[in-house]
Order: sequence, then C-alpha cells, then structure tokens
Amino acid sequence: MILLVTGGAGFIGSNFVKHRLQTTDDKMIILDSLTYAGVLDNLKEYLNDSNLLIPKTQDDLLSVTKQIGERLSYAVPDGSAELKRLTSKLEGFNPNYVESDLYDMVKDILKKDKVVFVVANIIDSKTDQALMRLSDVVVHFAAESHVDRSIFDADAFIKTNVYGTYTLLEAAKNVSNLKKFIHISTDEVYGHAIGKSFKEADPLNPRNPYSSAKAAVDRMAYAYHQTYGIPIVIARPSNNFGSNQYPEKLIPVMTIKALKNEPLPVYGDGRQERDWLYVEDTARAIDLLIKSGKIGEAYNIAGNNERENISIVRKILEITGRSEKLIDHVKDRPGHDVRYSIDDSKIKDLGWVQDRDFDKQFEYTVNWYIQNQNWWEKILNKDQEYKAFMKAWYEER
Ligand code: TYD
Repeated sequence: MILLVTGGAGFIGSNFVKHRLQTTDDKMIILDSLTYAGVLDNLKEYLNDSNLLIPKTQDDLLSVTKQIGERLSYAVPDGSAELKRLTSKLEGFNPNYVESDLYDMVKDILKKDKVVFVVANIIDSKTDQALMRLSDVVVHFAAESHVDRSIFDADAFIKTNVYGTYTLLEAAKNVSNLKKFIHISTDEVYGHAIGKSFKEADPLNPRNPYSSAKAAVDRMAYAYHQTYGIPIVIARPSNNFGSNQYPEKLIPVMTIKALKNEPLPVYGDGRQERDWLYVEDTARAIDLLIKSGKIGEAYNIAGNNERENISIVRKILEITGRSEKLIDHVKDRPGHDVRYSIDDSKIKDLGWVQDRDFDKQFEYTVNWYIQNQNWWEKILNKDQEYKAFMKAWYEER
C-alpha cells in the first residue's frame, strides 16, 4: 500500500511514519513544508541523497510561507530570509530540486525505496494532486497545532489548517484511486468537558482559534464525503505525548526547563485536566482506522489517562530530580479549556485495545528528553522563529 502522509516531519506524523515503516510493508510519500515544527532529524534514518525532493513549485512554497510569515510580528521579513530559514531546516541533508514531473520522479523512487519526502506546502494543489494520484490512503496530520500560538496570531492556523485542508480535499475530488482519507482532527473540537466525556455525535463547541480552525475542517472533511463521496474517516485523538514533541508543549517545555533549572510556568492554578495518549497508541489507532474505520464516521481516540497539569509537572520534577520550588504559577492562557475528556467506546467497538501503563510511558518520554539533549538544543539554539515566539509569549505571563 502507498500512503501519503502530510505533516510527516512533525511530532505525531513522524512517530506514525516510523511505526508504520517498522510494522508494515507500506511505502510512504511524506509531504511536509518544514515550517517551524517540522524536523527532518525526526526521520533521518529513512532519508538519503535521492529521496528528499523539493518540487519546482518551490516558488509557490516560498511565497505561501512568506505570506504566512509576514502576518506574524516575529516572522522573517522577506523571501531571502525565508530561503535562509528553509536552508537551515535542510542543514545536513542533500535535497533534490525537481525540475521534471514530480509524479514520475516519485513513482520512480518508490520502485527502489520505501520513502519519498517532498518538501512542499499542502496549499500547493499541483503537488497534492500529483502525490495523491500515486496513493492508496491519505493520512492528513499537517496542521498548526499549538493553542498558545493561535491565541498570539491565528493567521497561519487559518491558512494551513483551513485553506490547506480545503486544498487537499479539492485534490482528492480529482483522483479516483483513493481508498481512504484519514483526517486527523482533535478532541479539542468539542470544547471543554465539564462533568462529562464527549461522544462523537456531541455538538462541537471549540473555544480557541486553534480548535475552531480544526472544528471547521473536521466538518469540511465530513461535508466532502457527503457531497463528493471522498472516503473520509475522521480521528479525534486526545493530547499526545512521547518522543520528538516540539518543545513548546507542556511535557517537553517543563522537562527542558527542569533540566535547565529554570522556573516551570504553570498557567493559573494548574488544576486544568488533559487526557494523555501515548503517540504510538495514536499510530496504532490510525492503523485500525485505515483497516476498519467506517467511511464518513468520526472516531474519538482517548488515552484514558486524565491528569491535572500540576500533577504532570510534579511527576516531571520527580523524574528529573528537581525541586518543586521551580514551579511558577503564571498568568493563565485566555480561553483556557479546563478539561478535555472523550468517550472511546466507538473505536473500541472496532476492536481497539489500549493497554499501556501510563506511568511507564511517561517516564520513558521524560527520559527521552533527558537522553536526547542534542535534539532539543538544536531547536532551542537555532530556530529563530521559535525563540522569538517563546520570548514574546512567556514575557507576557
Ligand atoms: P499544551 O501542551 O499546550 O496542549 P493543549 O493546550 O493543546 O492541551 O498544554 C497542555 C496543558 O498545559 C494546557 O492546559 C496548558 C498547560 N500549559 C501550562 O500550564 N504551561 C505551559 O507552559 C504550557 C505550554 C502549557
């Protein structure tokens, strides 16, 4: 089977790609524009001098990312800076600039290799269509995912999550070979769960710019199934954790701060609850949806590990051997959802079993950041956009 995985250099995407390559004979086409959260190192063992491609439509890519960048106050000012940024994302790799037909080139590479990585934006419809014509299944992870950044500036969230998904869905209309299109949504589309666990048929009530953009395309994907017969299956996973998560999210942020003996910025009282799902379990659940998910349906993927943020932070301090005095209660996130909770009986009816020990996976994850300091230090030291956002956001708190 050939899979087209969008956002495959990101946290959940790259973990899914690795899981799939280790457990199946699939071939993978990875489509990722390498915005700040896409990290090629996540997949370095699968990349070589011939399977990393930048299509000739890169001019479009540059102009799209530039447009997105221009709206962010901390972003790069011009095209040459954007080129510089992309060059730095590709450092240590040797990409091929594709002048000829992307479709033929990818087809050729897949005759010998299991992986092709295409550096392009999902907003580039020509690229989407060429790659989709070669694929049996699409798994669409590509998205801006950090709630704090969406509160800071929602623009990129609309461009990538809404317009990007729309472009992919349009491309799917023009091909006849797709068996399934798995749209990765989120449990955040329901809004916060006060006193209940949401089921798939519950109303969507997103409460921040990120989740509202995701809710829009969750329903747009559904509409493209109803209207055009695209074989959509929607996945709504809860908060993921694991290795390679970009150091802006709760667990990596707190682990890294603890390791550096810096204050840990807990929003408000820290009593907000999240349901933590191990990233490999997300990958296994998506396997199941590829195999047995009913077309046109949405499925919750729960971790069934609901924890208050403060208890997660305390656990991190315990594992890293740091003092609780490092906990710093800071100004809360506006529109903060106090609790996420979903009912996963629908996917369980498909045969889903989640039997991992949370504490064990959690400890493994924190230790991964302890042992892979090079991975996150490179981001902390080199990613100018990341640095600027973190400074601007946390200075306000
Ligand atoms: P996050 O990892 O950003 O995921 P999401 O907002 O999508 O759930 O945040 C998880 C929880 O941790 C959320 O309630 C916000 C909180 N949080 C902090 O208290 N401090 C921080 O520095 C971060 C990044 C998150």
